[in-house]
Amino acid sequence: MNNKTAVGNAIGKIILMGEHAVVYGKPAIAIPFPVTKVKTTIYRKRGPVLLDCFYYKGILSGAPEILLGLTQVIKDITKSFKEELEDFSINIESIIPPERGMGSSASIAIATIRALYDFFNRPLTYEELLRWANVSEKIVHGNPSGIDAAIVSGEKTLYYIKGKPFMPFEFKLNAYLVVGDTGKEGQTKAAVEGVRQLIEFNIEEGRAMIEELGILAMSAKNSITINNAEKLGQVMTKAHIILDRLGVSDDSLNLLVSAAMDNGALGAKLTGGGRGGCMIALASDREQADYISNKLLNSGAQNTWISSLGVDSIDK
Ligand code: PMV
Repeated sequence: MNNKTAVGNAIGKIILMGEHAVVYGKPAIAIPFPVTKVKTTIYRKRGPVLLDCFYYKGILSGAPEILLGLTQVIKDITKSFKEELEDFSINIESIIPPERGMGSSASIAIATIRALYDFFNRPLTYEELLRWANVSEKIVHGNPSGIDAAIVSGEKTLYYIKGKPFMPFEFKLNAYLVVGDTGKEGQTKAAVEGVRQLIEFNIEEGRAMIEELGILAMSAKNSITINNAEKLGQVMTKAHIILDRLGVSDDSLNLLVSAAMDNGALGAKLTGGGRGGCMIALASDREQADYISNKLLNSGAQNTWISSLGVDSIDK
């Protein structure tokens, strides 16, 4: 029996364009967001497996349903190694706000998968990491497109189409991204189900909106390629209007999107599953990003983050 302490890390993500439509095979763009991260530590401790994380502290078998994706993966991986599910403890420290569309569930799963492989001294391939992450995401989200697991595991900006080989591309835009947290937990699963029902009951209108979101994601990629931040901003705002019509925005998100637009943002939209969670705004420079960030905080945002898109560094 080893006595090692193993560590696994993972970062958060932001969906720039294409959420919801990506479930229906349309393209999406997502970026790694290293300012938010998760660290899982596993260490030897006699007795039943203990879990210590944001939602729960106690024995693994007593963890609440919200952690089912994570606990299932822990059990399945341990079993696949033919190891006993006992005599170790798992500690998860996360600065990714949960249920906000920032990839918290995928990041927690990925950090923990990495730590488990390290703890049991097994080599972890990228394919295995992705496969396990998707096992967890399926339990958490029901019918995930796989975009969260893809971004968080690969840590590269992706132009993502479900079921297609990953298409990383260079994201160097002379602009800043401001992320605003409504402070309200998003409802990805319910929002995805809401879109499904809308399409089922109003096929033509529902499909047209999904189609339009796909076209806007393509247009966003084009705007990034030619370094046209103004165009990207316009495309983002158009996407938000459609997402709102799809029923996946809410008052808290619309309020912050309006606050950003009223204060000079090039564009703004919700990000991720919606119905709470986070929004993003595009700013032409750092000064404008700071200004928008302050306005978002004054308008009720619980937290904001600013990221430069021109270089790899994250500024706050
Ligand atoms: O809420 P998040 O960050 O998990 O994003 C979900 C993105 C959706 O497109 C709404 C669902 C999916 O599986 O792609």
